Amino acid sequence: MEVKKLTVLGGRDKDGNPEPVRELELKRGTVTAVVGPTGSGKSALLRDIEVLARGDTVTGRKVLVNGELPPEDLRFNPRRRLVAHVTQTMGFLADCTVAEFLEAHVEAEGTDVDPYDVLEVANRLTGEPIHPDMHMTELSGGQSRALMVADVAVIGDRPVVLLDEIENAGIKKHEALDELTSHDKIVVVVTHDPVIALRADVRVVMRNGAMTEIIRTSRSEREAAKLLEKVDDWLLELRERVREGERIEGVEPPEVTTA
Ligand SMILES: Nc1ncnc2c1ncn2[C@@H]1O[C@H](COP(=O)(O)OP(=O)(O)O)[C@@H](O)[C@H]1O
Ligand SMILES: [Mg+2]
Repeated sequence: MEVKKLTVLGGRDKDGNPEPVRELELKRGTVTAVVGPTGSGKSALLRDIEVLARGDTVTGRKVLVNGELPPEDLRFNPRRRLVAHVTQTMGFLADCTVAEFLEAHVEAEGTDVDPYDVLEVANRLTGEPIHPDMHMTELSGGQSRALMVADVAVIGDRPVVLLDEIENAGIKKHEALDELTSHDKIVVVVTHDPVIALRADVRVVMRNGAMTEIIRTSRSEREAAKLLEKVDDWLLELRERVREGERIEGVEPPEVTTA
């Protein structure tokens, strides 16, 4: 099934009042950020999208697929699932190597993707190289996040990708977003990080369990995001060098003027 857009129809806030935003459109090839304080309902919104809610969750929201209520099959048949969810916690139960994990996943999905393509993408997103013979359980937070994003982008070809707070993971966040959007997906990302929020096409503001506002990213916000990205890359590189035991001398901040 080709998914062109999802529509989230507003439900109620934590006090039972109708939420201010009555309709949120999520289109293919766009990134939507979800911002708001802890406890404001960001993860609940992601969950509503994940389960294609029908007024049957705490928020009372409904999610339409291409403008219509989706068939039950789309909600409950794992083979037809539309949504891949990269969550905050990445527990790997099976202790296998990275190569075994990717090969098993390629096979389960029945695609002809080369597992090494996934690895190549992952290694663009993390500063700590992942080798195919590493064990899944020994990957750092950054490595496992990078691998999951690459896996979702390249193998688990779902039209909708939800990311819950990738910022703490030490990966090149904006490249991770680029990787996902280049595959023409609907991307929704919960974030406390201005780089990601300002890089998104729109951001939804959450408060008291409700979607209170939809902000379209302005041109000056996009410019600001570019500067922040440079600072961010610089910081990530410095951190890697310190981790590797290097001495850091003569640190030059990046050129942060817009041309
Ligand atoms: N609209 C709502 N109505 C009732 N409970 C809600 C609503 N939105 C969120 N909650 C509940 O509030 C708590 C915090 O929400 P959560 O989505 O985890 O917040 P966040 O991810 O922003 O920290 C959760 O227990 C969640 O189920
Ligand atoms: Mg949360």
